Amino acid sequence: MDNHQLILVLDFGGQYNQLIARRVREHNVYCEVKPYQTTIEEIRAMDPIGIIFTGGPNSVYDEKSPKCDPAVFELGIPVLGICYGCQLMAHTLGGEVTAAQADTAREYGKTETFYNTSCKLFRGLPEKGISWMSHGDYMAKVPEGFALVGHTEMCPTAAIADEVRGFYGVQYHPEVNHTENGSLMLKNFLYEICHARGDWTMEDYKNTSIKAIREKVGSGKVLLALSGGVDSSVAAALLAEAVGDQLTCVFVDHGLMRKDEGDEVEAAFAKWKFHFVRVDAEQRFLSRLAGVEEPESKRKIIGEEFIRVFEEEGKKIGKVDYLVQGTIYPDVIESGAGDAAVIKSHHNVGGLPDFVDFKEIIEPLRLLFKDEVRQLGRELGLPEYLVMRQPFPGPGLGIRVIGDVTKEKLDTLREADFIFRDEIAKAGLTQTMNQYFAVLTNMRSVGVMGDGRTYDYTLALRSVTTTDFMTADWTRIPYEVLDRVSVRIVNEVKHINRIVYDITSKPPATIEFE
Ligand code: XMP
Repeated sequence: MDNHQLILVLDFGGQYNQLIARRVREHNVYCEVKPYQTTIEEIRAMDPIGIIFTGGPNSVYDEKSPKCDPAVFELGIPVLGICYGCQLMAHTLGGEVTAAQADTAREYGKTETFYNTSCKLFRGLPEKGISWMSHGDYMAKVPEGFALVGHTEMCPTAAIADEVRGFYGVQYHPEVNHTENGSLMLKNFLYEICHARGDWTMEDYKNTSIKAIREKVGSGKVLLALSGGVDSSVAAALLAEAVGDQLTCVFVDHGLMRKDEGDEVEAAFAKWKFHFVRVDAEQRFLSRLAGVEEPESKRKIIGEEFIRVFEEEGKKIGKVDYLVQGTIYPDVIESGAGDAAVIKSHHNVGGLPDFVDFKEIIEPLRLLFKDEVRQLGRELGLPEYLVMRQPFPGPGLGIRVIGDVTKEKLDTLREADFIFRDEIAKAGLTQTMNQYFAVLTNMRSVGVMGDGRTYDYTLALRSVTTTDFMTADWTRIPYEVLDRVSVRIVNEVKHINRIVYDITSKPPATIEFE
């Protein structure tokens, strides 16, 4: 990232920290979130153009509350404190923070707020608007040199500024959508106060990454397990662009993909010159899955077999220098609020293949949010069907055929699922749902077609709307669309004579059926 200007977000444990980083990047300035314990030497080495202190659940007057090195105020760069971050700034620079009395300034929720628009933070913005408050502490006295530049009916110190030193503090959360013009206030901080150039664009990022990867890899060999999902596809395209035929991608086609998917993935990478190994492993997977009905057993078999196939291919290639992982920023959650930084990391493609002989792991998407990964994919020229692909479970259709998996059932499901997705796309609904698919249940029932009696499978349609996939609501698909899907499927796909739509949310149901 060498050439990009950096905004450093110091994390004091608030709930909106990732959101602050998002907002800053939306304004084309690169930003990283680091724990509050980051030392002054580390901060100097990062050379940020400005620092943002996040909110947090603590009270600054509590001795054990998280505090950063006060030397950050001597770096000569602007600081914006948000909520706890604002109180910390006030407390450190000689102000006074106390618990708010009920009748003074404990505020929660949407609050009408008045701004002094001669302050750079509010330049060009309306003089009043709703802000999102969530604080129980109150700045009874602001430090010397600070002016009051924002207030609410209850709180005279909703925003403070020392414009000479470039220190700003707000009690509310400008990063959340509930705060009117909050994003533009952050933009003012970046451009009016930190004099950002706005040099964080995907094109720029792509070029910088390619250069960095080339320098690192040199003439070494690189191996990547391509699943066809967004992250591994974008990582593959980036590496292909950077090191060409030094890269080998192993794409394990387990026969559990959706209709045409294997060919689509292969076609998407045709324009690069690198070693694309597509392993047709359908037979292997199907014979291992034969007769297995229990969902967790199926998952285990598919996972193991995947590793085994990858291992065999890895052995053929011999020693590699680097292994690429498609880890993205939300996979790496660093929180500065606890005593130790908590790092949650998951790997997208079947775990770490530790049997492959390699020196080091490269994670080229580590700093990107999901939509930035998609943007990078577009920048690299990947087709929209790969870049916008919905999440797809590792075990694929193996867990969408309920019970025993056979090639016939998979083919039936593939056709039905394709029609469902096709009609959703034709109705222009793809943006309104986060995951939608068909499931072949193992229930069979009596139907009538033409003059004959049928005894065929019931297909279930599932669609959810969610932000985090931990909880989800079922999508209200218009009846006419459901009707078209139903009519087409029973007409065009053999062995399905009944279609149901799943109207349970998660919880109590899960997104997948198995
Ligand atoms: P559930 O069914 O648990 O799904 O509500 C939540 C999200 O996880 C995906 N999912 C999986 N992904 N391997 C995966 O890589 C799996 O075994 C698996 N099971 C569920 C699911 O598609 C949804 O996005």
